[in-house]
Amino acid sequence: MKVHAIIVAAGKGTRVSGSTPKQFRTLGQRQVFEWSLNVLHTHPEVDTICLVMPSSEAATHIADREKLIITAGGHTRSQSVRNGLESLDAQEDDIVLIHDAARPGLAPALISALISSLETADAAAPALPVTDALKRRSDAGLENVDRHELFRIQTPQAFRFGQISAALSNTTDDFVDDLAAIESLGAKVALIDGDRTLDKITYEKDFDIMTQLLDVGSSPVRVGTGFDVHGFEPGDHVTICGTKIPHDQALAGHSDADVGWHALTDAIFGALALGDLGDHFPPSDPKWKDADSGIFLSHALSLAANAGWQLDSCDITIICEAPKVKPHRQAMREATATLAQLPLDRISIKATTTEGLGFTGRKEGIAAQAIATLCRKPA
Ligand code: CTP
Ligand code: MG
Repeated sequence: MKVHAIIVAAGKGTRVSGSTPKQFRTLGQRQVFEWSLNVLHTHPEVDTICLVMPSSEAATHIADREKLIITAGGHTRSQSVRNGLESLDAQEDDIVLIHDAARPGLAPALISALISSLETADAAAPALPVTDALKRRSDAGLENVDRHELFRIQTPQAFRFGQISAALSNTTDDFVDDLAAIESLGAKVALIDGDRTLDKITYEKDFDIMTQLLDVGSSPVRVGTGFDVHGFEPGDHVTICGTKIPHDQALAGHSDADVGWHALTDAIFGALALGDLGDHFPPSDPKWKDADSGIFLSHALSLAANAGWQLDSCDITIICEAPKVKPHRQAMREATATLAQLPLDRISIKATTTEGLGFTGRKEGIAAQAIATLCRKPA
């Protein structure tokens, strides 16, 4: 048994403005129809995809993709679906997922859920409860409609190839959706949880709503910088980037004074626009006395994760005359990579002197600067 997907993209999009049909407008980095196409194309359970295009549309940039058939649509949506079904090389009990190109927010998990629903049902579709009050206008005025038995139905809708092909080829009707074509057959329909991201772009304002829902307006990368200084005090070691380095002095600070991890933590807060180290860990709070700065860094990383971001790479520069950082650089990178759960090649640690100039040149303390790049966490 195979799984085929049909994406209907042959409509004129008359309810939005402009001459380009809505499914060919740009949303984020790509055209609207490409969002679902990419998800279906990379889904391990989907064998073939039929993209139903307006006959005028030359789709040469995607026509040579593996698993992809392109066919021309018809005057109505149901006719476009018929054309798609006819172009498939499918068996009666193969599964067909029929999807509107104008619904870009398709998630891989929803495709899997639809496919597994057909183990016990004839057809399946994503559905959402109606949450607004519903009224019917009649001559007598407004009348309440009980919404508790009502659903908003989205696509993809899943069918057995034999059943949906027979139902649509028996008539030339244009159905409100594909489920309506098999309604009279008494088919068992499974409704699975839909999602607002699957709503259809119908009107011009839906482009703004979808841009927000799919979070495509914002950059996929965030960058922050951090800088920190600690002065020397009597002691026998310093701790930089989680690594104890023997030295004839120590760094003064409320916590363990890990100047490298403080700079990195501040860079992460910076990328998230969440203030600085002092906001999150006030030096006035006795709780942080002699604290391991790994706690600060872990906290910044978990705030990033909660906001949907993860550290992609960082570059830390330690500025001092002494101690010599180079012999400890590998250990410092390893400690940082372990804490951030990142491969070593994403962690750069460098060191420089200031040629005897300034407070670091006078060996009064150590400075560090860091840059952190965050990328979106995979969904
Ligand atoms: N569709 C199609 N062939 C048609 C009509 C519609 O392939 N003859 C597709 C649209 O491209 C869209 C989906 O069916 O992806 C849902 O239809 P709808 O939202 O109604 O799109 P349009 O018909 O293009 O828009 P409108 O009704 O506003 O003109
Ligand atoms: Mg239409």
